[in-house]
Amino acid sequence: MSYDNITVKHEEAIIYITIDRPKKLNALNRATIAELQDAFEEANESKDARVVILTGSGEKAFVAGADISEFSDYDRQEGSALARDGQNNLFDLIENMHKPVIAAINGFALGGGLELAMAAHFRIASHNAKMGLPETSLGLIPGYGGTQRLPQLIGKGRAMEMIMTAGMIPAEKALEYGLVNHVTSVEELIPLAEKIAQKICNNSGVAIKSAIKAINAGFDPKYDGFAIEIESFGNCFATDDFKEGTSAFLEKRKANFPGE
Ligand code: COA
Repeated sequence: MSYDNITVKHEEAIIYITIDRPKKLNALNRATIAELQDAFEEANESKDARVVILTGSGEKAFVAGADISEFSDYDRQEGSALARDGQNNLFDLIENMHKPVIAAINGFALGGGLELAMAAHFRIASHNAKMGLPETSLGLIPGYGGTQRLPQLIGKGRAMEMIMTAGMIPAEKALEYGLVNHVTSVEELIPLAEKIAQKICNNSGVAIKSAIKAINAGFDPKYDGFAIEIESFGNCFATDDFKEGTSAFLEKRKANFPGE
């Protein structure tokens, strides 16, 4: 698939996915969502990619939300389908990726933009970032998982306030809330994401895939997270990465994980 609304760059173990509609503050229209789905599916299949860094192009925005111009005349059925398809096709896909997805928030992350960042495994932000779920100011509620993931990340009361006021919080407040893990300068944002990605790459990709599954299971009422942890822990013992990791430790050398 060729892309008009995103760019994808694969360098060594990192795939950079950048939403690239800066004139529209990277708002998520249907085409962008389809392209992101395709890019994430490919990244998931890639043998040599270990980490995905997701960011927005331009100086102002990560993503300023779903593209309001596309759904302003929708009816109830179309509204439901918009949320359902988006969640099933993209947001849940990102959350359940086999490899870590780091959202590097470089400006406005609003509505669907913050929901996109929250679907990633964790977030870092630049000082100029502003985050919010302004849907109630449009007569809507968040539809791409925001009513679920925001309370999980920052607690129910804070999420209630953010959604009810439709307000934006600055990067430092997001750090205090635990919505982002680190805040840095605009220039240092991608280098910081890369530094974290490099640390991740030192570890077993198979084990990280299992950890993502077990952690996510704990937040999904369909699953018993502890049971998934037990099963996934056991499965690790059948992997080459486990043999390599434990041998390397006992032999006092750095592990070279085969990723199997
Ligand atoms: N959907 C569609 N277009 C959007 C958009 C969105 N979510 N967010 C920004 N844009 C467009 C604007 O319409 C404008 O397009 P134009 O130049 O063709 O008129 C362009 O992006 C630049 O945005 P602008 O509003 O002029 O920038 P600003 O710096 O004055 O304000 C924001 C920035 C983020 C505060 C403002 O764009 C905004 O409130 N966006 C909507 C946020 C939102 O409600 N998101 C949730 C959607 S569910």
